[in-house]
Amino acid sequence: MAVHEEGAHAIAPATGKLGVMVVGMGAVATTLIAGVEAVRKGLAKPIGSLTQMGTVRLGKRTDGTTPLIKDFAPLADLNDVVFTGWDIFEDNVYEAAAHAKVIDSDQLQQIKPYLQSIQPMPAVFDQHYVKRLNGTNVKKGKHKCDLAMQVIADIQAFKQKVDRVVVLWAGSTEIFLEPTEVHQSIAAFEKGLVANDPAIAPSQIYAYAALKEGVPFANGAPNLTVDLPCMVELSKLNGAPITGKDFKTGQTFIKTVLAPAFKARMLGVAGWYSTNILGNRDGEVLDDPESFKTKEESKLGVLDFILQPELYPDLYKDLYHKVRINYYPPRGDNKEGWDNIDIFGWLGYPMQIKVDFLCRDSILAAPIALDLVLFLDLAKRTPQLANLGIQEWLSFYWKSPQTAPGLYPEHDLFIQLMKLKNTLRHIMGEDLITHLGLEYYD
Ligand SMILES: NC(=O)c1ccc[n+]([C@@H]2O[C@H](COP(=O)([O-])OP(=O)(O)OC[C@H]3O[C@@H](n4cnc5c(N)ncnc54)[C@H](O)[C@@H]3O)[C@@H](O)[C@H]2O)c1
Repeated sequence: MAVHEEGAHAIAPATGKLGVMVVGMGAVATTLIAGVEAVRKGLAKPIGSLTQMGTVRLGKRTDGTTPLIKDFAPLADLNDVVFTGWDIFEDNVYEAAAHAKVIDSDQLQQIKPYLQSIQPMPAVFDQHYVKRLNGTNVKKGKHKCDLAMQVIADIQAFKQKVDRVVVLWAGSTEIFLEPTEVHQSIAAFEKGLVANDPAIAPSQIYAYAALKEGVPFANGAPNLTVDLPCMVELSKLNGAPITGKDFKTGQTFIKTVLAPAFKARMLGVAGWYSTNILGNRDGEVLDDPESFKTKEESKLGVLDFILQPELYPDLYKDLYHKVRINYYPPRGDNKEGWDNIDIFGWLGYPMQIKVDFLCRDSILAAPIALDLVLFLDLAKRTPQLANLGIQEWLSFYWKSPQTAPGLYPEHDLFIQLMKLKNTLRHIMGEDLITHLGLEYYD
């Protein structure tokens, strides 16, 4: 193993406790927390988590050196992860998990005391931004700046108990917002906080508080939150890594696997119709047209970027892409996502592909949330990454990867994975893997 000591040694070790502050302790958050505790107790395996189960090849294929990622990169150990969070409902994590009905009650009983010990702090919330919700565990303040200061105080208090902190938004999807003047600089944003600017949503207040505290922030929802000039500026200034938004879990995950395959074979796509039914609280929130629009934008973006119709007009110029989400309570968290894909091949002959994914939303999202928390903490401790602001190497996890201004995002899952693993090799001083492989035939 050709480890260049310098690279590896520059990363601060993951000693002590990693505090994870989750905004929104609903289905995803409770499945994450319960899952981590079940894994720690040896009751279950961390399936779906690249940090826990994935490997990384080092050197030549003939070297046979393929350590687990968690043994290769200095990630926090699950036993050192401590959770807390905020929610508009007072339910502790056990009650919230029982309500979400993702994890079987038998399994929940085995970790009940631990889950009961985590009580959400009062949230920053305004129903204007999430129409279908209303709760009482909410902070009061004379303006948005006051609320931000209260979140900063929460983060500072938690910092007394742990060694490092990451904030994860697993809260509901807010209404569709677009960047305004208030988002163009830290100074404008801070003025906007005092002036109660309506373009500042609660998720932005949490993000501001985290970044101000030098804490990495991950946005599991499609809200406009850290994809803003003021947040990028703050992230760089304080060495607080940020990355994309909206966990890439179900239908979009499959889309970003299939679309590159069609393009690789130069097959045309005439239409892609995607529809979903889901019955959890997320589905209820997305039933509101303003929250749905936020999700729709995030889901629609991927195909254009992957298929590049401007480069391949004969194949993708007229593609009709439609995404629907329907709230259907009987299914709970067990979403069903259908895709009808009209493709065409040699001489333009049409064909169809149908995908019916009977998935479990939060079971897919929890390991992604875990990986993001661990990788963002690693980025914070890595001098080559911490002050970059945007961590594009974590695009793998997002429906909407965040990139430097003017750079188009990479949506192809396997390119994203290669980028992620090469970044790990790079920061650990290992040779990158290009897959050229001519040397095997010398
Ligand atoms: N596969 C997935 O599950 C998946 C994939 C991509 C994105 N997401 C997104 O992740 C988010 C969470 O999904 P979920 O299924 O856990 O939803 P959920 O409704 O079960 O949980 C969201 C929680 O956030 C809380 N909340 C809302 N606004 C808040 C605020 N301002 N402060 C604190 N708490 C707040 C709600 O009270 C609720 O408990 C949603 O935005 C969803 O769109 C989920």
